[in-house]
Amino acid sequence: MAHAPELFHRPTLAEKIAKQVLTVAVGSAASSGVFLAAPRRTGKSTFVREDLRPAFERAGALVVYADLWANPTTDPGAVVVTAIRAALATKAGVVMRLAKASGLSKVAIGGAMNFDLDRVGVGKDVSLTEALVALSDETRQVIVLIIDEAQHAITTDAGVAALFALKAARDELNSSHHHGLRVVCTGSNRDKLAMLRNSKDQAFYGSPMVNFPMLGKDFIEWFCQKAELSFPLSPEKIWPLFVEAGYRPELLGSAADALRFNFEVGADNGPDLFESEVRQLASEINQVQRKAIHSLTPIQQVVLRVMAANRDNYAPFEATTMALYRRGLRSAGETEDDVRIDVPGVQQALLALQEKKLIWRAARGVYAIEEQTVTDILSADGLLNGL
Ligand SMILES: Nc1ncnc2c1ncn2[C@@H]1O[C@H](COP(=O)(O)OP(=O)(O)OP(=O)(O)O)[C@@H](O)[C@H]1O
Ligand SMILES: [Mg+2]
Repeated sequence: MAHAPELFHRPTLAEKIAKQVLTVAVGSAASSGVFLAAPRRTGKSTFVREDLRPAFERAGALVVYADLWANPTTDPGAVVVTAIRAALATKAGVVMRLAKASGLSKVAIGGAMNFDLDRVGVGKDVSLTEALVALSDETRQVIVLIIDEAQHAITTDAGVAALFALKAARDELNSSHHHGLRVVCTGSNRDKLAMLRNSKDQAFYGSPMVNFPMLGKDFIEWFCQKAELSFPLSPEKIWPLFVEAGYRPELLGSAADALRFNFEVGADNGPDLFESEVRQLASEINQVQRKAIHSLTPIQQVVLRVMAANRDNYAPFEATTMALYRRGLRSAGETEDDVRIDVPGVQQALLALQEKKLIWRAARGVYAIEEQTVTDILSADGLLNGL
């Protein structure tokens, strides 16, 4: 399998989601968008690109796709705007409309085509609403904007501004004059995604949060058939293993790769070796994070523990939180003489945790644990008790 890896497709699931997003019930908040959340490395992006996007297109929608993680150095706000510009650029009629609207039609013939798409953006001559209205009116299609790893949008001011601009665009396009705009966001952390929809001043207030379904038994059957190993794999045995490994297809793939080059494997020992290889890989991944957590300084560790235990109620500097840090330190066997808990100390710990990619900070100073597995490890090691 040296060529492009083969994929297992889920067209039925894709069609179901597409239909739900495109059909808007009276009084439903779904027109404001939908959030699909699933843990890391479980196949969200693959599904969105390979199955969901085509399903929307088959249903007659025009899809604009922005991946906020593809290039970590580009501002998430700019990624959204660039994706919209790219969609505009594919429709000559839209560019013409925008040119006319901005007065360029008075310029020489052909001048319209010189309309510079850089003029489209947040706080530019042509707002995202105007641009998307032109796209909607020209194509007469419902526009579906898919934002992968959407939580990154709230880590920068430009990202936040882009979300507000989208809210305005959505309200305008979903009015009876145009053909509709739906926004589908994906992300790997429910707490982070929740920040995009939980407060009234957020762009997607009240949008439904959907647990994105993991790959299922049908995927395992497909995998066992395609594995091309020198011994057969039984789906009944692999399924519980896949669940145990957190529904991450890569772990199965890597285990298969490892055994493919092991020439001492036969039908007798193959299945067992495969199982232990998958378990080994899963525990190696956890071990890296566990090591990072256990090598934190006492104050960093207690800040992480309190944040994980309190989730969206976590307020870093409140008196009650400070009391929790102290309690956590005592339960870890530290005394206050050893570790002083004060605001600058907590601030420093937060910065260090961010640098170590254990926590994540939204533009307004709201924090979340970077990955669910971090919380899982803390919980498994008894570090959340009593907090
Ligand atoms: N349907 C599928 N069939 C085969 N392999 C898959 C499928 N979906 C995902 N994978 C494999 O699993 C891995 C993770 O997939 P993907 O990047 O889509 O997950 P993700 O949830 O978006 O991850 P991240 O949290 O890093 O964004 C990839 O190596 C991909 O090839
Ligand atoms: Mg992804």
